[in-house]
Amino acid sequence: MKILVAYGTKKGSTGEVAQKVAEILREQGFETDLRPVSEVKDLGSYAAVVLGGSIYTGRLHPDLLALLKRQREELEKLPVAIFGMGPKTSEEKDIAGSRHQVDASLRKLHGFAPADVAIFGGVIDPSKLRFPFNRMPASDARDWDAIALWAESLPGKLGLGEVGLARVGDGGIGQDVH
Ligand SMILES: Cc1cc2nc3c(=O)[nH]c(=O)nc-3n(C[C@H](O)[C@H](O)[C@H](O)COP(=O)(O)O)c2cc1C
Repeated sequence: MKILVAYGTKKGSTGEVAQKVAEILREQGFETDLRPVSEVKDLGSYAAVVLGGSIYTGRLHPDLLALLKRQREELEKLPVAIFGMGPKTSEEKDIAGSRHQVDASLRKLHGFAPADVAIFGGVIDPSKLRFPFNRMPASDARDWDAIALWAESLPGKLGLGEVGLARVGDGGIGQDVH
């Protein structure tokens, strides 16, 4: 049972979170493919899809939105979870603000309903930004415990059962926990 974890990033931090999510899914026994959303082609071999995108000026990463439009028909047949990043802190009001932005981006897809949407704090690395954004103070609001907890909850949220290992090459002997 294979899960696609794909990410839209400009400066790398969303890719690192996607990598962590993929690692945790692998630890739970699921096969995963990790790749930038721009490289996603055929979704036929996946049981579920996890998509991550950075948020810039109020909108989810354009490559992620492009994928959701381009492959919507296929994505609608699969359980899909989305994460967006990221606010400057992991405080409730900042997370809620970014959540609002992600919801607004997804609303433009008229009726596309992911199984789950999460928001994680983001990273500001002034050394990677151009003027005037390189004047922003450096910050890293990624809460790795919250990211790990979300990743651990994904098999349940995506309807895959909690024990991936029981489904891999066990000839059907393993029990699936729902
Ligand atoms: C110019 C600029 C605009 C941003 N706009 C938003 C925004 O509207 N909402 C938000 O939640 N985060 C915003 N961010 C924060 C980024 O989403 C955050 O830095 C994220 O971790 C970047 O991901 P990446 O490293 O994968 O590109 C902005 C960052 C920059 C530099």
